[in-house]
Amino acid sequence: MNIVITGASKGLGKAIAEKFAETGHTLFLCSRNEFELYKMMDELLTLYPQASVKAKPVDLGRKNEVMDFAQWILQNTNAVDILVNNAGQFIPGSVYNEEEGSLEKMIGVNLYSAYHLTRALLPKMMETKSGHIFNMCSIASFQAYANGGAYSISKFALAGFSKNLREEMKLYNIKVTTVYSGAAYTDSWSSSGIDPKRFMKAGDVADMIYAASLLSPQACVEEILLRPQLGDL
Ligand SMILES: NC(=O)c1ccc[n+]([C@@H]2O[C@H](COP(=O)([O-])OP(=O)(O)OC[C@H]3O[C@@H](n4cnc5c(N)ncnc54)[C@H](OP(=O)(O)O)[C@@H]3O)[C@@H](O)[C@H]2O)c1
Repeated sequence: MNIVITGASKGLGKAIAEKFAETGHTLFLCSRNEFELYKMMDELLTLYPQASVKAKPVDLGRKNEVMDFAQWILQNTNAVDILVNNAGQFIPGSVYNEEEGSLEKMIGVNLYSAYHLTRALLPKMMETKSGHIFNMCSIASFQAYANGGAYSISKFALAGFSKNLREEMKLYNIKVTTVYSGAAYTDSWSSSGIDPKRFMKAGDVADMIYAASLLSPQACVEEILLRPQLGDL
């Protein structure tokens, strides 16, 4: 299968890429930092020689680069089987005090990138009447909290996008899964000072996505909701 994962150089995206590489698929990956992305690609190819891994450094906060990424994928494959809209940015803050431009930045990376990339890849998926799209939302996509700010607003919007897409794609046999992840230990949390054991593992989220991708064409996991055993942080 051909699998597209955005924001795959570390964190949840990397864990998802590893999970699919294990079973020998063709992966199309991206992130901004070229060095980290290619390093990750080499690691995957060494650990999982059965997989084919391609990577392109792009900034998904820029629409023209999202479109370049989409074109590159379409030039390199005839079908997209799985798209994981994972790339995202978390800048803490509240509506009243966050830095000017926070909303624009996070709507850009967390919502517009998924919207534009999906729109660019959908015609091919609709033509083949197959495919599965995962959108990486968050508990902050449905639950308001102090310090939620622009991040939470952008993740609410991403969930709205994902739920609409699910309705629109039913008759095209394209599955859409909204992933509501609680706190999983990644770089985003490494400076928090909280014990890593308090978090879920990135691999937990990857395992659920992988499992949802295995069901029969008749079944769609519409939502995945995971939280740390001790609850939200
Ligand atoms: N970890 C959690 O607890 C948690 C919980 C709920 C939801 N999420 C969501 O899960 C997703 C991944 O989070 P994470 O914790 O794994 O984050 P992470 O460890 O910071 O990794 C983010 C990945 O996205 C890439 N990325 C960031 N901005 C990008 C951009 N503008 N263009 C292209 N790639 C970009 C990063 O690489 P570069 O920096 O090199 O671009 C990196 O590969 C995000 O959407 C996040 O909101 C995470």
